[in-house]
Amino acid sequence: MSCAGDESSAVTAMLEKLTMLWNSRAAVNRAPLSFEHMVFDAARPDFCEALLPFSRHEAWQCATGQQQSECLTYAWIIYNLKTIYIECDIVTPACEDLLKFSPLVGHRRSVMQEAIAEALLDEALHTKMSVSACNYIYDRRHVPLLNFSQFNLLRWKDEILASCTAEWQRRLTRFGMACASETMITDYLKRMSEDAAIQVVCREVTRTHAEDEWSHSSVFSFVAMDIVQGLSLSERVYLQQVIRKTVHMFADNEMGAWAHVFSLVGLAGADDIIADSQGFAEVQVYTDSVTALLERIGLD
Ligand SMILES: [Fe+2]
Ligand SMILES: [Fe+2]
Repeated sequence: MSCAGDESSAVTAMLEKLTMLWNSRAAVNRAPLSFEHMVFDAARPDFCEALLPFSRHEAWQCATGQQQSECLTYAWIIYNLKTIYIECDIVTPACEDLLKFSPLVGHRRSVMQEAIAEALLDEALHTKMSVSACNYIYDRRHVPLLNFSQFNLLRWKDEILASCTAEWQRRLTRFGMACASETMITDYLKRMSEDAAIQVVCREVTRTHAEDEWSHSSVFSFVAMDIVQGLSLSERVYLQQVIRKTVHMFADNEMGAWAHVFSLVGLAGADDIIADSQGFAEVQVYTDSVTALLERIGLD
């Protein structure tokens, strides 16, 4: 029969292993991904059409090839903007919390902080990759800039943090949102990085990001396992609720961003697409992955 002490040592040993792997695995430790030698093919889509929340909508299917191609370019831009916000506003604050106010002590604290500081470095590189990949595509497609920052995911995050009544709730909220995001981003990136039909640069950026995120989902789950052991029952219930709620934040179709895109592209039937596509895509896929996360970290 295992006890909490045995579990903690096993978790610390796994985090030490992930830290060792980080030196050889992390994209941040290799030469920067060079976009210039990658062939740009104007005929290839910049994004996977099946991932659009309206890919089966009649008005989308009636759009011209040029409009569809431009919308797929903007899908790449929206995806990267969302990635930048997740890195900067969801994952980075949670990493900073753990570096500044560790809930763990002794060797467990130092091992956890090494792994989290490494993840933080990775996220800064992912932000840079997303910015560069957007600019690469803008330079070649010559489409107008999408100036949009009102993502539902940020509004939701701000609302839930504003509803917190204590600092422990705010920290657990930031931590829970980051854990859930790190698990869900892995599922999303996997689909993009395996799509051989999309623009090479888009596939390579998502593949490089996916390699790091497979490891981050482990780092965050092991850190969560360790932290959960020290939580009271009410804190555990709170963290479980935050992780479950984050599914909706992550799966939001962000039709506000799409409304801007459709007006830039001049898509007929845009209002119908927006009205019919509000809500959340693929909630079940994400619900399954956070349910598995909750089981792994002992919060099922
Ligand atoms: Fe990332
Ligand atoms: Fe990450």
